[in-house]
Amino acid sequence: MTLSDRRILLIIGGGIAAYKCLDLIRRLRERGAKVRCVMTAAAQQFVTQLAVGALSADHVFTELFDRQDEHDVRHIRLSREADLIVVAPATADLMAKMANGHADDLASTVLMATDKPVLIAPAMNPRMWNHAATMRNRATLEADGIAFVGPGRGEMAESGEAGEGRMAEPLEIVAAVESLLDERPKPLAGRHVVVTSGPTHEPIDPVRYIANRSSGKQGHAIAAALARLGADVTLVSGPVTIADPRGVRTVHVETARQMLAAVEAALPADAAIFVAAVADWRMADAAGEKIKKVAGEGPPALQMVENPDILATIGHAARRPPFVVGFAAETQDLDGNARAKLARKGADLIVANDVSHGSGIGPAGVMGGDRNRVRIVTHDGIEDWPEMTKADVAERLASLIATRLTGI
Ligand code: CTP
Repeated sequence: MTLSDRRILLIIGGGIAAYKCLDLIRRLRERGAKVRCVMTAAAQQFVTQLAVGALSADHVFTELFDRQDEHDVRHIRLSREADLIVVAPATADLMAKMANGHADDLASTVLMATDKPVLIAPAMNPRMWNHAATMRNRATLEADGIAFVGPGRGEMAESGEAGEGRMAEPLEIVAAVESLLDERPKPLAGRHVVVTSGPTHEPIDPVRYIANRSSGKQGHAIAAALARLGADVTLVSGPVTIADPRGVRTVHVETARQMLAAVEAALPADAAIFVAAVADWRMADAAGEKIKKVAGEGPPALQMVENPDILATIGHAARRPPFVVGFAAETQDLDGNARAKLARKGADLIVANDVSHGSGIGPAGVMGGDRNRVRIVTHDGIEDWPEMTKADVAERLASLIATRLTGI
């Protein structure tokens, strides 16, 4: 039995597809899983608590507070006692709540309180699925590390409309559960990897700072991918608006000097990946008080000094990790500059980005966007990777690092 004794918390949302959950519970239990169910108020309009309870052979949870037992902190306990949370059907409303951190009933509160992996099976009318709000919520949830199964295309039960939005079939959901809980090979188990990500902020005075457009998406995705391969990951992140990746130790810093100190404190490591867009300069003397505009004096001259180069410092340090990776954003002579950086910064591999032709910034660009096209430059040669998502670049880089570290 593939799911022997694995504990699944199934959150049933209020949609017509809720009827498929009865079969899903059966299929999961056939494979040895223990299934416990939470139903939203709307779900109870579609299937009965009695049917869900009979099939799961457990109490069905619907209320945040237990009037019989006020000591029972349900949302925490339900999450603690599960290996994986499955939300099926995940309605547009449930997805919106999850994406925005609402916690106004048992289902949404469990989802906010959990540190367990979460798999959702969306189900809704195709217009709702394709609505800009749902697409935004989906992107947010994916960035938060929520796994998706479906939706598929097909005819909607209630309206007969065809399109994307139909909940994945119970056996597809079971397959997704199996692959999420599956003990994938962990080639990086026992290895410590340090990753830097995001921009740095260099203060000018207490209210102003120098920054850049780095979103942290690529660095965070690399940290998460390494963790999935079993690595013990320390992520040193500058100020970003995206969530800390799951399964990773994240250290938050603001300035380049703090980032260097955090990286040094995290050593020794088996590998270090420097993805952060570190500010090259900082103020020679950041003002302790807000710099005032004085009539007749004109703008202040900003006196800057160079920041430490974190990659170069670690790349030449006595405690240099055995494998060091840097990134390079170039507008000209990509190969020449990347090769020069390899040597100058003491790296084993440079991931080079061509940011010429104004393609570097904004939602479609390398900085801030979701896609990336990179060239891998090592002492042995150059390899071009096709354009792919930052998540795919992260997966591929993580497995390349695993190969380099383990020789497998
Ligand atoms: N880097 C770093 N610390 C710095 C500057 C850069 O660790 N103070 C790292 C980045 O994380 C990246 C690599 O160095 O891995 C390349 O950074 P980049 O800014 O492209 O290189 P520079 O040395 O600044 O070269 P140039 O400005 O000439 O492009």
